[in-house]
Amino acid sequence: MSSNQFDVTVIGSGPGGYVAAIRCAQLGMKTAIIERYASLGGTCLNVGCIPSKALLDSSEHFHAAHHKFAEHGIKVGDITLDLPQMIKRKGEVVTQTTEGIKFLMRKNKITTFHGHGSFVDKNTISIKKDDGTTETITSEKVLIATGSKPSSLPGIEIDKKKIITSTEALELTKLPKHMIVIGGGVIGVEMASVFGRLGTKITVLEYAGSLIAGMDSSLGRELNKVLKKTMDYTAHFNTKVTGAKVSRGKVTISAENKKGEAVSFQGDLCLMAVGRRPYTDGLGLENLGIELDRGRIPVNENLETSVPGVYALGDVIRGAMLAHKASEEGVFVAEKMAGQHPHINYRAIPGVVYTWPEVAGVGFTEDELKVDKVPYKTGQFPFKASGRARASMDTDGFVKILSHKETDELLGMHIIGPRAADMIMEGVIGLEFRASAEDLAIFSHPHPTFSESVKEAAMGATANRIIHL
Ligand code: FAD
Ligand code: NAI
Repeated sequence: MSSNQFDVTVIGSGPGGYVAAIRCAQLGMKTAIIERYASLGGTCLNVGCIPSKALLDSSEHFHAAHHKFAEHGIKVGDITLDLPQMIKRKGEVVTQTTEGIKFLMRKNKITTFHGHGSFVDKNTISIKKDDGTTETITSEKVLIATGSKPSSLPGIEIDKKKIITSTEALELTKLPKHMIVIGGGVIGVEMASVFGRLGTKITVLEYAGSLIAGMDSSLGRELNKVLKKTMDYTAHFNTKVTGAKVSRGKVTISAENKKGEAVSFQGDLCLMAVGRRPYTDGLGLENLGIELDRGRIPVNENLETSVPGVYALGDVIRGAMLAHKASEEGVFVAEKMAGQHPHINYRAIPGVVYTWPEVAGVGFTEDELKVDKVPYKTGQFPFKASGRARASMDTDGFVKILSHKETDELLGMHIIGPRAADMIMEGVIGLEFRASAEDLAIFSHPHPTFSESVKEAAMGATANRIIHL
């Protein structure tokens, strides 16, 4: 095989693409990966999951130093913010992480090309490099893992100065006084948390009736209460943003409220967080005859497109735009290509929001069970009744468990509270193994832990026998 000839070529090095490339290499395929940016890791590692979590952690420490240390009996002097340092540390975390991916590519003998990949035909890809040169490679199979980009609203131009996306928000070195956040979804609440904790006044404008509207509705309601308590924060629900204007250093957002009346909001900076669009620009899909379905690349149950041997995964196809979903699909595709029989249970893929308290959910929401008329039982346990949560001063939120009314099979777990992101794994495992709520209730949970609240909620769902409430 010549040096520019591969068994598999992956276009895009995000958590979908790089994981797929590693699994392909592990399975003995000669693998190439193409990334248009100099740094590997895609949205997640460069401008998504990792940098946002770094800033969420830093801002959480700042907020705790201001609002919690004194009660813990820790006296500190003046606490001042060094935002450039916070951003610098975030940058270092990103570099360490993306360098790690470079190492993994070398370790697995994956050939990395930097440049914009474009299909010439289904087996030929041209790579346009930053220096203007083009290199062409051939590949028996190709995996499209080109991810997504922030979207905007009709008529609103993202100028990246006053009207920004999460990408620019992660680079702000001057704290805005008043940030208007359009969209109370995942990016909206995470970024609102970062800047709200640092002292920015936050106004969220959300079209739906609650925050994080895709999750169990009880979570968004509770999160809204906690955000109100912990920062200078207001949310306007049932508010549809229709326009934005920048003038004299201010941004004015126009919107329609629930009654259809025109309303406006003024701030120093506007963060656009109304979702992301799959990214297929300049990919040459027209040369393969692949037509998009509402912007996404259509795939079958094997994640294969209408062109045999061309696969797609992650944000660019249907489903949740989540890093771990993309990675699961990466392993799945590689194993399919190798003739194995992998499986993904999309219902058991958890969703997590890294506010504090954290929010996490897996399985069916209560709202879905109502719509589907599934008979169910609920067990709910508040963290204020948990000794561990009192010890750490993290008493907001609850664990809610939903199980089938007749069989007691676990149907969903929804948590807002300390370390919900880690605790949700108990629900994931329960769903994968088709556990009953009683199974979770009878497992021994270490004391004192936040996870005891899962046991208590499970006891509530299984037989209304919560101990500590
Ligand atoms: P991406 O990560 O978008 O990677 C695609 C890659 O393909 C990019 O590097 C791009 O440059 C490259 N590319 C595109 N076109 C071409 C081409 N033609 N040639 C060469 N290269 C190309 N998800 C979570 O699960 N947890 C989180 O905490 C989380 N936090 C987030 C925070 C923010 C602020 C954002 C924006 C997103 C967050 N996400 C999170 C979502 C997560 O980042 C995405 O779901 C995930 O990155 C999708 O992975 P992917 O591999 O499909 O695509
Ligand atoms: P989102 O889909 O979560 O939220 C967008 C919000 O904007 C929705 O609630 C929607 O109702 C609202 N909206 C849309 N049009 C509007 C209008 N005209 N006026 C007012 N509100 C309007 O999208 P978001 O937050 O941009 O995130 C994009 C993707 O990134 C998500 O799919 C998410 O999965 C992923 N992500 C995941 C994270 C995590 O897993 N922790 C963190 C950040 C992003």
